Amino acid sequence: MSALRFSDTISATLTDGVLVVTIDNPPVNALSADVRAGLMAALGHAEKDSAIAAVVLIGAGNTFIGGADIKEFGKPPVEPLLPEVIARIEDFSKPVVAAINGAALGGGLEVALACHERDAVPSAKIGLPEVKLGIVPGAGGTQRLPRLIGTVAAIELISNGRIVSANEACKLGIIDSLIESSLIDAAVAIARSAADSPLRRTGTLPVPPESTEAIDKAAAEALRKARGQRGPAEAVRLVRLAAATSLAEGLAEERRTFVELRDSEEAAALRHVFFAERAAGKVEGLENVAPRKIETVGIVGTGLMGSGIAVAALNAGYRIIGIEQTQEAAQKGRERITGILDKAVQSGRLDIAGRDDRLGRLAVVADAQGLAEADLVIEAVFDDLAVKTELFQRLDGIVRADAILATNTSYLDPNVIAAATAHPERIVGLHFFSPANIMRLLEVVNCEKTAPHVLASALAFAKGLGKLPIVCGVTAGFIGNRIFSAYRREAEFMVEDGALPHEIDAALEAYGFPMGLFAVYDMAGLEIAWARRKRQAATRDPAARYVAIADRLCEAGRFGQRAGRGWYAYPDGKRTVDPEVTAMIATARAEKDIAPQSFTADEIVTRLLKAMAAEGDALLTEGIAARASDIDLVMINGYGFPPHKGGPMFVAGRR
Ligand code: 3HC
Repeated sequence: MSALRFSDTISATLTDGVLVVTIDNPPVNALSADVRAGLMAALGHAEKDSAIAAVVLIGAGNTFIGGADIKEFGKPPVEPLLPEVIARIEDFSKPVVAAINGAALGGGLEVALACHERDAVPSAKIGLPEVKLGIVPGAGGTQRLPRLIGTVAAIELISNGRIVSANEACKLGIIDSLIESSLIDAAVAIARSAADSPLRRTGTLPVPPESTEAIDKAAAEALRKARGQRGPAEAVRLVRLAAATSLAEGLAEERRTFVELRDSEEAAALRHVFFAERAAGKVEGLENVAPRKIETVGIVGTGLMGSGIAVAALNAGYRIIGIEQTQEAAQKGRERITGILDKAVQSGRLDIAGRDDRLGRLAVVADAQGLAEADLVIEAVFDDLAVKTELFQRLDGIVRADAILATNTSYLDPNVIAAATAHPERIVGLHFFSPANIMRLLEVVNCEKTAPHVLASALAFAKGLGKLPIVCGVTAGFIGNRIFSAYRREAEFMVEDGALPHEIDAALEAYGFPMGLFAVYDMAGLEIAWARRKRQAATRDPAARYVAIADRLCEAGRFGQRAGRGWYAYPDGKRTVDPEVTAMIATARAEKDIAPQSFTADEIVTRLLKAMAAEGDALLTEGIAARASDIDLVMINGYGFPPHKGGPMFVAGRR
């Protein structure tokens, strides 16, 4: 058994008459030009050598193939192109078996779909996530997948870019068998026996018939979720085409659409987001710093935020000690956490055993001494400086010397909290977004004295929770709320200048925000921000422009949706423009002698985007954010900025 080499990334061995071809292109075995050329050479060799009865394709490491090489997008194409390689596999005269040893995504799954048999390890992840990059599958995915699993299932998977487990893929019919034992041995045996029977070429199979009604329903659902993005809509169209035309025509139309979308601004934006997420994890100065092992997490305060954090950490396998001030509050905290888990069970996202396992790792007590065991303590108590500093001083006397202490403050200065403790170097900020068990964004605040290993541990913990951690420095509101404040201020200036709240909201929603700014205000409630403005009134620069309309609304008891009225009115719960608010706005303009001007939707969005980017520039200059792309991720994952626009800094050309 000697190794053959077909390119830098493709090698093979001959086992029992089967050529086992290994794709070794770290980190994810992406289908680079070298991989494509090597695969063609390996197939050429296998065709000519009569001692080879069949071929097995497998990936080196933990990935089968992570997809086309995204770094090649935007560069001149290099032959052989992926569709040629895939056609060669499907048409091959001898059996080609995909031994799926890990993720088979995008072009990786398209390679597997062209193979004559697909076998996978149970841990493999399978999917066509192209729409998340603003494109559609470009090498047969939209044409071959429906031939295997039907139009309805293919629409659902491709238009959402949903990645499924090998088990689900097997049930759907994407995978032929799950292999629990040695994958190579099993694949070689399967390939050998396949040599004796006719080959099952996916592209020659008919698309299984389904009712038009079911297909229309799946298509409508996909378009609803797409919120105007092109990728999912085109994916639906292409999948439907598979049943209506020949493979060759379907493939040609798919490729044409793929190329057009790949070169679009939407795809450039989503690629930016993809690479931004990978870059965010790389923090200067932490390259050689090992994170501390964290197993037991203390959470002080089990209210809305604390219970969400507890559920996120329980889901990730941590032991949790929740702390409350009284027995009764501890009981309530436990009920709140159990309630979130029960909801997950009711909706089918969690099974009873999973819930019980989580509850088995949870204790909520009224005695802070319980924190002596914790590796990390997160405080999620009332956002008040005196309350927080007193708590951290008390924790100094309870926790282990090597424990890490995190504050979840949104607006207080964590440097001040740290300075009040005996060991400021072990204090870090973990600014979760609500609901903390759902929101992916987590601002990790690197305080003035935070030790590198504490920051590294906080980052590793955040990643362990499945969050997207963004490191930032200390400033009022951190990255997200600083930009949000600037954007909010600009929106209120515009209201005074002539735009009505519903016009601003409509412009934002048309741009891709799930909800306009003023509708969000009303949903969240206006009281907390009003209280903050009143506290800040004494120190506010009297020369700075200040829009008092929100204060007037609160003075009139218009606290938002829960109160039945805010920026809008809510008769029967339905958001409607309220002439009373329009009149209040007109009065405010008149008091300042502002002659209202009209704004187009485009002008509204442009002005808001400019305000966000200007504040982002300030955060970069101040060293609060490490890179422009981190700011984009914060706005996308915490504030509803449409990912397919790339973020305010991307739009502003800070690339
Ligand atoms: N092309 C180029 N680079 C890629 C890549 C790809 N398809 N997928 C991942 N990488 C790079 C990442 O940028 C990162 O690089 P870095 O170390 O320099 O930052 C490195 O590989 C590791 O990536 P992750 O940190 O994401 O590694 P994980 O182990 O967490 O995840 C993965 C592995 C599940 C494969 C994940 O990387 C992933 O989801 N990749 C993208 C999958 C995808 O979208 N494929 C479709 C591509 S488009 C396509 O195939 C078009 C076709 O239809 C023609």
